[in-house]
Amino acid sequence: MCGIVGYIGYRKAAPTILNCLKALEYRGYDSAGIATASNGSLHVKRDVGKIAEVHEKHNLRDLGGSIGIGHTRWATHGVPSMANAHPLVDCTGKLAIVHNGVIENYSEIKEWLSKKGHKFKSDTDTEVAAHLIEENLKRGLNLEKAVGSAVARFKGNYAFAVLRLGEKKLVLARDGSPLVVGFGKNEMFAASDVPALLKYTRQFAFMEDGDVAVITRKGAQFIHKGRRVKRRKTNVNWSADMAQKEGWPHFTIKEINEQVVSIPAALRVGVKRGAELVRKAKRIHIIGCGTSYHASLIFKQLLANHAGLECDAWVASEYKEGAVIKPGTLVIAVSQSGETLDTALAVKHAKAKRAKVLAITNVVGSSLARGANANIYINAGPEVSVVATKTFTAQVAVLTSLALAVAGKKPKKGRFAKKIKQVLKLGRQIKKIAKKLRTTNDYFFIGRGLMAPVSMEGALKLKEIAYVHAEAYPAGELKHGPLSLIADGIPIIALAPTGANEPKMLGNIKECKARGGRIMAVSNSLRIIREADWGVNMPKACDELTPLLYIIPLQLLAYYACLERKLDPDKPRNLAKSVTVE
Ligand code: F6R
Repeated sequence: MCGIVGYIGYRKAAPTILNCLKALEYRGYDSAGIATASNGSLHVKRDVGKIAEVHEKHNLRDLGGSIGIGHTRWATHGVPSMANAHPLVDCTGKLAIVHNGVIENYSEIKEWLSKKGHKFKSDTDTEVAAHLIEENLKRGLNLEKAVGSAVARFKGNYAFAVLRLGEKKLVLARDGSPLVVGFGKNEMFAASDVPALLKYTRQFAFMEDGDVAVITRKGAQFIHKGRRVKRRKTNVNWSADMAQKEGWPHFTIKEINEQVVSIPAALRVGVKRGAELVRKAKRIHIIGCGTSYHASLIFKQLLANHAGLECDAWVASEYKEGAVIKPGTLVIAVSQSGETLDTALAVKHAKAKRAKVLAITNVVGSSLARGANANIYINAGPEVSVVATKTFTAQVAVLTSLALAVAGKKPKKGRFAKKIKQVLKLGRQIKKIAKKLRTTNDYFFIGRGLMAPVSMEGALKLKEIAYVHAEAYPAGELKHGPLSLIADGIPIIALAPTGANEPKMLGNIKECKARGGRIMAVSNSLRIIREADWGVNMPKACDELTPLLYIIPLQLLAYYACLERKLDPDKPRNLAKSVTVE
């Protein structure tokens, strides 16, 4: 998704913004640009491509002034092109704007503005905001009022940063798309998220939906529905180093390896208050998207098996379509970013029906966390890679503790960090398997019980970063259709820890082998390993903790499959770290 940065202070704005934009790269984008103001001129440089490419072509550091805005664009309205890249300017050439989100009613506003003589130079929805603010300024409004009045006309979701020549302030606005204000000494920042600014500050205020903010060198003022309001400052204990590669070739592999610390940390997170809410609830729903949904499915099973409680798990974007929400319903909203629009809208819908919300997020002060009745933070530290790895396991760890705590139990951790280390060492073997499979473009993942959602997560990782077709099935479902696709050479990744499902998994593996499938078995059972073409030997763990170990070889497989295909695992095409559109 698009990334926004704003700076006002004593430093040269362009290089500062450039550094922050680089820290936002992980969100995914196709063009980039910066605008600054100095010596009576607005300077804008922007183009298609990665920041390094745009910088190489245009020298983005070479823009004067100590006030400016920057942007990484993820195309929605209008192809990636120089004309559509942000910052976009108004007719006077004195106002520049960057935007994240979608203005749904932009065409009618564009028509109205065109009739008034405004000339549009891009195909974006964003440009209407620049011209509408210009129009409001002509009416004599000050910049914040002009922005406030413009955004009041928009349908959709947005975060804006606005720079106007001659003003010693930046104006920000948010509704539905994230925007944080960073506090420095004699300097202020704005960005789409916290990691972008960690090099400069750890003190943040999170804007609320409907807020307009004015930042000057000295501080910030927040306005909501025309009135001055206070927004609490939050200190974030993440460091800039945590969001650096620290010698690893990619963030993806760094973060996979960090699980040796992040999983035990997440297993230590307190869940008492959350468990009380679950116990008191009349109905329990758990919602999330993508990876967070897979974590939710694990919770559903654990809650049933350990606490005997029923829980509905929903993909957040489908929640409105059929969930029965009554007073007394508890919605557990799972989102590592805490900014996913689909999840936010599902929560809004539930709250309107008087449900209570327990948020499970990684980002302190994120929109989801602020709007919830209670929060549990998963404590995974910043995750820079677009695909979720350590945040998935941290979610699962917290949800496992939560499900067990409802029944007055705790996970049997043993020496779990040692087991994680042991699994991470399988990387070398998995790299070789990925090499053997480098020309294979169809994969199946199978598992039963807790391993079914883990298979789904493994298949998702492979799709996301290696761009290959991967399907996940509860192993028992294979014979109800997909078995027809198992033929010579098709790889089947079978997750089969010892336990009640082991004999059935053995049967499923044999079924696949009989049809020519090649088996990568992830298991701690010799019987299973013996059947496999590639046996990935796992340490034994108690049942409830197996998902935390069994996902790691699948994350590694996706990573090495991606490298085999000479792709960049940190920045998969078409994907974004926080998805703030519906
Ligand atoms: C997968 C992935 C996505 C996210 C999904 C929800 O690697 O990153 O599927 O899990 O977009 O994001 P959050 O958890 O931030 O709500």
